[in-house]
Amino acid sequence: MSYEIAVIEGDGIGHEVVPAAIDVLDALDVEFEFVEAEAGDAVAAETGDPLPQSTYDLAADADATLFGAAGETAADVILPLREAVGSFVNVRPAKAYPGVDAVRPETDVVFLRENTEGVYAGHEDRLSEDLSTLTRVVTSSASRELAEFACEFVEDGRGPDHGDGFTVAHKANVMRETDGRFREELLSVADERGVDADEELMDAFATKLPLDPGQYGVVVCPNLAGDVLSDLAAGLVGGLGLLPSANIGHDNALFEPVHGTAPDIAGEGVANPTAAILSAAMLVEFLGHVEEGQQIRDAVESVLSDGPRTGDLGGNATTEEVTAAVVERL
Ligand code: NAI
Ligand code: MG
Repeated sequence: MSYEIAVIEGDGIGHEVVPAAIDVLDALDVEFEFVEAEAGDAVAAETGDPLPQSTYDLAADADATLFGAAGETAADVILPLREAVGSFVNVRPAKAYPGVDAVRPETDVVFLRENTEGVYAGHEDRLSEDLSTLTRVVTSSASRELAEFACEFVEDGRGPDHGDGFTVAHKANVMRETDGRFREELLSVADERGVDADEELMDAFATKLPLDPGQYGVVVCPNLAGDVLSDLAAGLVGGLGLLPSANIGHDNALFEPVHGTAPDIAGEGVANPTAAILSAAMLVEFLGHVEEGQQIRDAVESVLSDGPRTGDLGGNATTEEVTAAVVERL
């Protein structure tokens, strides 16, 4: 059986790191059919539309999508694409690898971020010259869906090796209704399923995480909190070139490096392909090939520790040299 993968390079270093991830997928014993589509600044400049309907439809119909990055039009591209694949959770692992200069080398945390509501639900209004408001949306259904996913994630042993269960980060002491509902649903689903769950107020968590990241494994957050706190964790592990992410839906998903188009180095062939390659590892795992996902991770880990390395990690290798080293280890 062959999987149809929508490939959207986007702009900037998307054109360099996505082909690297595809070279790695091609080296696996799994059949893929890659179908390319356009999105981002370049296609917007040509046609006026950063996300052509044909690209949206391709992502919606494919088995999974691999996305690079878009420039100024990123929000116009990625938000509808997450919707196209029906994503309700954003999975963002932040792991420090041997051989990489990390602020906190013991960091190994996976964030599960609610991906559809909260303050990002899009209900912002300008009510007068002086007043703007935002309506925060929290439903029990979305909170419970996230909770079920978090429990399965933990039960399947997909989190870091240390620790059991998950931690809910919230601010229910102030946002009693919205975060109160979120917290209650997360903890009650965990209780129903017999999964260990504890909680942290998100501001205290933002202090405790950098001081002692080793105490956290899987962290479940509302949308905005997950965005900010996972970026904080990214800072602990050595930079943007390393961090993958997955937008998971029920029967479809989109995988993308956390970084953007890196205009300062785009076109030079020196971008770090690690984040895109690790996103591809998450893609094959989503398709059920857990062993192959681990093979990619092991190959990446070995290259990060022995080299070659790209400039952002203190080396002088090109994107292609690093990719070839990963493929060779596979
Ligand atoms: P950025 O992630 O593109 O770059 C930040 C810094 O990290 C730059 O110095 C860059 O060279 C470096 N960097 C990023 N990825 C790297 C890699 N793989 N290898 C080596 N170095 C890497 O973020 P920035 O500069 O804030 O945004 C640039 C553009 O990207 C903007 O137009 C922004 O809208 C867009 N963007 C798109 C995203 C998306 O499509 N999901 C996410 C973030 C930004
Ligand atoms: Mg962000």
